[in-house]
Amino acid sequence: MTKRPIARTYRATARNLGLLARRLQAGELVAVPTETVYGLAANAFDAAACRKIFRAKGRPTTDPLIVHIHSLRQLALVCRPNAAALTLAREFWPGPLTLVLPKTPAVPGIVTAGKSSVAVRMPRHPAFRRLLALAGVPVAAPSANPFGYVSPTTARHVVDNLGDKIGYILDGGPAQIGLESTIVDLRDPRKPRLLRPGAVSKKDLERSLHRAVTLQPARTGGALAARAQIAPGLLPRHYSPRTPVVLHAQIKRTIPAGEAFVFIRRPQGRQASNVFWLDPRGELRGAARRLFATLRQLDRQGFAKIHVELAGGEGISAAINDRLRRAANR
Ligand code: TXA
Ligand code: MG
Repeated sequence: MTKRPIARTYRATARNLGLLARRLQAGELVAVPTETVYGLAANAFDAAACRKIFRAKGRPTTDPLIVHIHSLRQLALVCRPNAAALTLAREFWPGPLTLVLPKTPAVPGIVTAGKSSVAVRMPRHPAFRRLLALAGVPVAAPSANPFGYVSPTTARHVVDNLGDKIGYILDGGPAQIGLESTIVDLRDPRKPRLLRPGAVSKKDLERSLHRAVTLQPARTGGALAARAQIAPGLLPRHYSPRTPVVLHAQIKRTIPAGEAFVFIRRPQGRQASNVFWLDPRGELRGAARRLFATLRQLDRQGFAKIHVELAGGEGISAAINDRLRRAANR
C-alpha cells in the first residue's frame, strides 16, 4: 500500500496559530518548530493525546517525553522546582535547556514513562511560543522523527517522515540551533548531571550553578541500557541514518567514489562531488545547524558510507560529536 500524505503545513499566521491551538486543545497532534529541532506536540495533561505521539513515532512507551511550557507560571503545574532549577531557568530560558525534576500528579504517567520525574523546557522559537500561549496548556513533545532516526530541522523533514501519520505541521522555518536541547538532571540539586549535551554547554551550567556538573556515564547499549537508562536518547542507535557512518578525528585518506566525506569546514583542494562540509569557515554553530539536514541528504543519495570528521574545540562541539557518535553506532 502506498503511503497517503495527510499532513498540512501551516505558516505562523494569527489565524493558523488559533486553529492549531484548538487542535491541541482537542487532543490532536501538531508538529511544531523549536529553536533546536522540530517537535511532535500534544496537550501534556491529555494522556490519550500523548499516547498518539508514541504511535506516530513508533516510540516505545518506556522513553519519556519533554514537557514544554510557555512561562514560569506554568512550571509549578508540571514539576517541583528547586533553587538550582530556578537559577538555570532564569539564565537560559526561553532556550535550549531541559531540566529533569520531580513531577506533579497532574502530569500523566504516559508522559514520564511512569517515572516520578519529568523533563521540562521553555522553548524560545517565537511561533511555538505564540502557539503555547494560545493553547494555554503545557505540551509534551519529543523530536518529530520516527524513533531512532535523525531529528527533523525543517517542516519538510517532518512531512517526509511523518506526513502520512499526522495532520498538522506548523512551519517556523529551519531550526536555528539544529541539535536537541541540553538535558540536566536536577532531582538532586547538589549533584547536577548532564544527560545530553546541547547548545548550553557543561561549562555554561557550571558557571551558572557555581558547582561541578557530572557527565552521565556512557551507556553500553542493548537491552541492558534499555532497562537501566535514565535518558533513552542515549540509546546507541539514536539519530542514525540508514547509511553506515564512519567517524574520523581528521579525514586524511584519499577519497574513493561512492562514499561521502563530510568535513566541518570547507576543505582546501579536495573538491569532488562526494565531498561535503557543514560550514564554509568551520564555524561550529553553523556546523551544528546543518548537521542533521546533511545526514538526511546524504542518506538519500545512496552512498555506501558516510565518513564524517569530528568537531574540535569547546562548547557546542561536545553536542555535535555526541550526535555523530550515536549516528555512527548501529
Ligand atoms: O530540543 C529538544 O529537546 C527537542 C525539542 C522538540 O524540544 N525534544 C527532544 O525530545 O529532543 P526527545 O524526546 O527526542 O528527547 C527527549 C529526551 C529523551 O532522551 C528522554 O529519554 C529524555 O529526554 N527524558 C524525558 N523525560 C525524562 C526524565 N524524566 N528523566 C530523564 N530523561 C528524560
Ligand atoms: Mg528524539
